[in-house]
Amino acid sequence: MLELRDARFIQSSVDPRDRPSPGLPEIAFVGRSNVGKSSLLNALVQRKRLALTSRTPGKTQTINYFLIDEECYFVDLPGYGYAQVPESIRRRWRPMIEKYLSDNPWLRGIVLLVDGRHPPTKLDREMTRWLADRGLPALVVLTKADRVTRSRREPGIGEAVEMLGLDPEQALWFSSRTGEGRDDLVEALKDLLEEA
Ligand code: GTP
Ligand code: MG
Repeated sequence: MLELRDARFIQSSVDPRDRPSPGLPEIAFVGRSNVGKSSLLNALVQRKRLALTSRTPGKTQTINYFLIDEECYFVDLPGYGYAQVPESIRRRWRPMIEKYLSDNPWLRGIVLLVDGRHPPTKLDREMTRWLADRGLPALVVLTKADRVTRSRREPGIGEAVEMLGLDPEQALWFSSRTGEGRDDLVEALKDLLEEA
């Protein structure tokens, strides 16, 4: 049972086949560059700088494995689709992320992060579709909740799931700054890991 009492960086891979041993269930964090993937991971394990974050998009450039409670890996991935990230780099990341996600017997769940301040982008929709086509169910997290007024919480979920073609139960708000949504996300991750 996931308690999140212990989190340790294990390795960065460029080749998706290069994964740590022992193999353990994996939860992957996916989303646009700068959406808050690495920050969310830190907030989940309540460590400030376990995963490296930056105001500049394109911080995470490799597949980063964090061992959680000696039980599973949280996997921090590079982001997609940010104009400020040079095209040459984006071209390299896409096959890396897609291969990691599609060729992975250890993957138990995907957390797809969407910037809660804006409607999902075309790339977010494409990613949701791409995952669904491969039978990879994603939990959607609307990030940066601290920047969004309370009155937007419910409609924001409704609009996002409608645009992404998902159910409202598959989405929740999260703030790495305030910890809002952390408990719900932890519960959802436990379910994913226990379903396996
Ligand atoms: P890449 O590694 O570049 O793909 O980005 P990322 O998705 O890992 O984003 P990262 O966690 O590095 O955060 C990007 C920026 O958003 C940083 O300046 C964070 O401080 C900020 N940020 C992340 N989460 C939150 C949040 O919940 N609220 C607010 N206000 N800012 C956040
Ligand atoms: Mg990152």
